[in-house]
Amino acid sequence: MTAKKLLFAAMSAGIAMSMYAAGEQIVVETDDNAIVFTVGDNNRLYQSYFGQRLNGAADYKALPLGTEAYLTHGMEDYFEPALHINRADGNPSTLLEYKKHETVSHEGSTETVITLADPVYGDEVVLHYEAFGPENVFKSWTEITNREKTPVELEKFASSMLHFDAPKYIVTQYSGDWANEVNSLDQELHFGKKVIDTKLGARENMFVSPFFQLSLGDKATETSGDVLVGTLGWSGNFRFVFEVDNLGKLRVISGINPYFSQYPLAKGETFRTPEFIFTLSDKGTGEASRNLHDWARRHQIKDGKGDRMTLLNNWEATYFDFDENKLVSLIGEAKELGVDMFLLDDGWFGNKYPRHSDTQALGDWEVTADKLPNGIARLTEEADRQGVKFGLWIEPEMVSPKSELYEKHKDWVITLPNRDEYYFRNQLVLDLTNPKVQDYVFGVVDGLMTKYPGIAYFKWDCNSPITNIFSNYEGKNQSKLYIDYVKGLYSVLDRIAAKYPDLPMMLCSGGGGRTDYKGLEYFTEMWPSDNTDPIERLFIQWGYSQVFPAKVQCAHVTTWNKKAPVKFRTNVAMMGKLGFDLNLHELTSEELAFCKGAIKDYNRLKPVILDGDQYRLVSPYSGNHASTMFVGKDGRQAVVFAFDVHPRYNEKLDNVKLQGLDATRNYSVREINLADGSQSQDVKTYSGKYLMTVGLPLFTRNDLASRVYELKAQ
Ligand code: GLA
Repeated sequence: MTAKKLLFAAMSAGIAMSMYAAGEQIVVETDDNAIVFTVGDNNRLYQSYFGQRLNGAADYKALPLGTEAYLTHGMEDYFEPALHINRADGNPSTLLEYKKHETVSHEGSTETVITLADPVYGDEVVLHYEAFGPENVFKSWTEITNREKTPVELEKFASSMLHFDAPKYIVTQYSGDWANEVNSLDQELHFGKKVIDTKLGARENMFVSPFFQLSLGDKATETSGDVLVGTLGWSGNFRFVFEVDNLGKLRVISGINPYFSQYPLAKGETFRTPEFIFTLSDKGTGEASRNLHDWARRHQIKDGKGDRMTLLNNWEATYFDFDENKLVSLIGEAKELGVDMFLLDDGWFGNKYPRHSDTQALGDWEVTADKLPNGIARLTEEADRQGVKFGLWIEPEMVSPKSELYEKHKDWVITLPNRDEYYFRNQLVLDLTNPKVQDYVFGVVDGLMTKYPGIAYFKWDCNSPITNIFSNYEGKNQSKLYIDYVKGLYSVLDRIAAKYPDLPMMLCSGGGGRTDYKGLEYFTEMWPSDNTDPIERLFIQWGYSQVFPAKVQCAHVTTWNKKAPVKFRTNVAMMGKLGFDLNLHELTSEELAFCKGAIKDYNRLKPVILDGDQYRLVSPYSGNHASTMFVGKDGRQAVVFAFDVHPRYNEKLDNVKLQGLDATRNYSVREINLADGSQSQDVKTYSGKYLMTVGLPLFTRNDLASRVYELKAQ
């Protein structure tokens, strides 16, 4: 159909249509980057460019038209579409024409809103691109509105579609398993598809994280190369599709995984996709990460600019085996150690089925009377007396089949009719699509906060993926469950945020099973992995740091890998949000003195580590050593961490070149966190130029050795 005929068809169908402006360009810019769209002669929207900002309108006009921006199923394109709508009349195709666009200013960002519509069926697709200038971060999402007289069904509904034309594409994914999260793996793309997706539902990131890096050309290094880093803000099934076509062009489609998620849209109803968050750097992965860290702290994470508490957790110190006396004494240990908070983990609830193991009691959130006869109040009072805060573990989305909740409300549980139940960690997931379940889950937090106002923090866990996928509430609309579960979760979290806006919470999911930026809008921090072996943590923290700042990565000193000295374990944990999870009596007096000193140093250095710029200097993947540094935002202070894992006999040790310093300044360099908790008296001074060009001999040939240096500008 020609444009003229289409216009006529649209008008006779009663749809008002603005005349299009062929050749019109819509430019979405951050400080360094630009995405340029052009309206084609056929009135469709094309992505003409995504890259470094050019010199303005004349340059943008010179660009070729490019590829249709948000490709739809059923039209001329031969590859994976962003959108597929099924209609009552059986026509599965959608044609999108440009209608209008506008720009809206927000604090810290500019949002470009482009409205497209099907000229025959009227369905509206609104593409949103929000650009955060100084951070060079974009967010994009899509709103799809059914403008027909009958319901439609969304089959595919991407948040974002981006097009690239580069000589080579290398995608880096972060995958693994429980206690083995975020292993970095590169893969060059050739003709065809590479898909990174998950259909685990509640614990969606257990095997693969919702982020990737895409090198455009040769593999980007920390300091060089063109690289896109993207992540989806959605605590549910996600999918990234990378498809290289016959011409060697790449499309990247990001959004909710459409697997078993056909979504009905009633007349007039709008579906809003989650946000795809991305940044582009021509200076490698280090800059891309720092872009995201800055953006996240300023605009996304709950209390992103605020402080974080150090803590003592009892999970690995006691597991389920504790009573009031033991906890009171651990609260005393928290005080002695000098941390801000004591965090009581799993095992404090259930009476008919006391939580003495992970086999029962999830859902019965009353204090186990014979374990804690004086309730949580006795513990919050003790914490108050000792001058530390009190935090509590909960897992409110889940239920044990052996629980009073399950006995009372089997219809609240996601479980299939006519099938045996399949359990993951002996538990099932509650049906958060049901408003009564939402009230109940909100009530877990609200009830505890009302009864025990001394609670200052929650660790919110979620150990099971959705198994036995079936909702008693959704009835015939079972394919809505995966999506409506997440919407239900967000509506609960919205209520918690509204009533307890300043309550810090840790996002945990059997380790790092739920680590995404939408979740972090509600949580101040996350638990990256149950694996706290410091060697493993070097890799795990390296992996998450590609996308998330140190501020949200909880890192605890535990007894995993006792071969590693407490100093090594603590130094690794200091590169994140520091905590401890051990019995102090397992430490020698020297080790205890070291930890106390390290906590004091950490408190002093928090603004640099948690709010500064992170430079990954030497990758644990590269061999026997690893190093990371943080530079304070004013450039006056820096902290360098260096680790020797298992050096080879007599191996050659190279200097490590520091990054992010001011070349013209002089810096004093002092080793801190010495084994006895003190600081070195040996202070040397170097110029920033020297430190970044010649570097420092950071490494040794000693197994499991580590050092921390503090740099101060003079
Ligand atoms: C999960 C968490 C752990 C701990 C246990 C308690 O595995 O990741 O940190 O809280 O649950 O059962």
